[in-house]
Amino acid sequence: MSNFWSGWVMALVVINYGVILLLFLWAPTADIPVEKDGTTGHSWANGTIREGLARLPKWWLVISTAGFIAAFIYLVRYPGFGSNAGTLDWTSNEQLDGEVAVHNQSMAALRNEIEQGSVLALGYNKESMQLGERLFEDNCAACHSYDAKGNHFVGAPNLTDNTWLYGGKVADIINSITNGRNGTMPAWQDALGAEKVSQVAQYVRSLSGLPSESALVAAGKEVFSTTCAACHGADGKGNHMLGAADLTDHDWLYGDSLEAVTATIAHGRSGHMPAWKTRLNDSQIKVLAAWVLNHGNSEEAVAAGDK
Ligand code: HEC
Ligand code: HEC
Repeated sequence: MSNFWSGWVMALVVINYGVILLLFLWAPTADIPVEKDGTTGHSWANGTIREGLARLPKWWLVISTAGFIAAFIYLVRYPGFGSNAGTLDWTSNEQLDGEVAVHNQSMAALRNEIEQGSVLALGYNKESMQLGERLFEDNCAACHSYDAKGNHFVGAPNLTDNTWLYGGKVADIINSITNGRNGTMPAWQDALGAEKVSQVAQYVRSLSGLPSESALVAAGKEVFSTTCAACHGADGKGNHMLGAADLTDHDWLYGDSLEAVTATIAHGRSGHMPAWKTRLNDSQIKVLAAWVLNHGNSEEAVAAGDK
């Protein structure tokens, strides 16, 4: 603050403070003329309303005095009187810096844990799992839903059931989150025709024990081994390299009804998992991978002795 403005503020403070103080000292003892009937003699509305006289109550005086004293002490100790820094040398910047330092200190242990710890170990760390939960809710729940059980409309897989499109090792999960995934299931309506599509749909449902028409299942099995096995495997257990779904488990990307399965085969699907490397940093992705593995109970990751 320049000297001019500092002086300006000081003058304003002194004038304001002084005028109010003078009024304050004068008012309680001011000599106000009183008529015999105890009024000031002022009257309105042709004499029907007359002005009485009442002194300021004591409590009001006491509270105001305390206010004046507090304001004075404040101006002495804190900045406020022009560029005078106040006897405490307090500044809002320093207070903020202090609070930021305390916060960083309290986060240092967690940050260290996240940077140094193994992904699987993070899954057992309460604080990092709270962080993971928040990150998941903010970034992932829209597609995978809040309980991480997936969403058939966008083909977002259930992440809690220990079945994985692209593998359940730590590196697979980190890769899925970092780089995203685009599984493509081709459309077969034109190549196979409606009849074969309906046969193979019955066969696919039979793989996981869902009710199916046995006459169609046998024909569907033929179609499957020539057309589908290349990606889904001869046994229908899928292929992590392609993200081709395991058709024998009870985990369905797009639903298990005959209509949904038939629609998938006839018209194809392409699930899109966005890449997060441009939006989240490595630590956040690590915490999310730990949260996902913790909720998915990935036996594969544990068996692989993953870090
Ligand atoms: C726009 C919707 C969408 C969002 C947002 C999204 N995902 Fe996905 N995610 C998908 C889809 C769809 C797939 C399946 C991809 C495929 O079919 O190839 C998937 C697949 C995955 C997989 C692979 C699962 C497996 O079985 O191999 C993981 C892990 C995953 N997502 C985690 C996350 C995390 C963590 C976030 C938040 C940072 C997230 N996803 C945000 C839609 C989404
Ligand atoms: C080129 C490889 C490829 C071929 C060939 C293929 N699929 Fe797929 N299929 C996929 C992929 C990849 C997915 C996962 C799609 C996604 O992530 O959105 C998938 C998904 C599916 C699903 C959905 C599973 C679910 O969980 O909802 C069904 C059903 C299916 N395929 C059946 C078939 C049948 C039947 C055939 C043969 C007629 C076939 N697929 C041929 C790659 C293939």
